[in-house]
Amino acid sequence: AEDARSLEISQMDWAALQQSVAGCTACGLCQGRTNTVYGVGNPDADIMVIGEAPGQQEDLQGEPFVGAAGQLLDNMLKAIGEKRGERVYIANVLKCRPPNNRNPQPDEVAQCSPYLRRQVALVKPRVIFAVGRFAIQTLLQTDAPVSALRGKVHHYQGVPVVVGYHPAYLLRNLPDKAKAWRDLLLLKSVESDAGAS
Ligand code: URA
Repeated sequence: AEDARSLEISQMDWAALQQSVAGCTACGLCQGRTNTVYGVGNPDADIMVIGEAPGQQEDLQGEPFVGAAGQLLDNMLKAIGEKRGERVYIANVLKCRPPNNRNPQPDEVAQCSPYLRRQVALVKPRVIFAVGRFAIQTLLQTDAPVSALRGKVHHYQGVPVVVGYHPAYLLRNLPDKAKAWRDLLLLKSVESDAGAS
């Protein structure tokens, strides 16, 4: 049944996918949510930002990265001349908020991943910016520490992936902002190279 569901999702268009997420009951997180958080921005984006899961504000508003971390994310994008909704699409690995922002569980990731896979396939971004250990390790299917993954280009479904610090982490660790700037420069350069080819 799981394979049939994944296959079905992998063939949906954008509207059907959105609708399917909005009514999803595939894991227990559906019981505690206020809203599903599908994603926001330009479905033809060149840059796709992928985070972990909705937090409290995101669950309430139904939009990703709208809390304090989201404001920092907007500023990070601004630093490379980008803006939410213009050439950027923002989504999370999980579409529903885990209780008290606990870590996503493997079954939740397994049930939700077909949605993200399809979103990436439909957006076809030039580059993915995966922020935070959870999103990075999930997308890249690795246990390697983020420190070993930074500064290199990885791939998810054939799309180049640049990894970066989660803005919520940066809010608590301001000295790492200099390193975050290097991640953003790599993101920008991979995006430009993909646009030129
Ligand atoms: N953190 C995330 O990873 N995603 C959000 O949407 C908000 C906070």
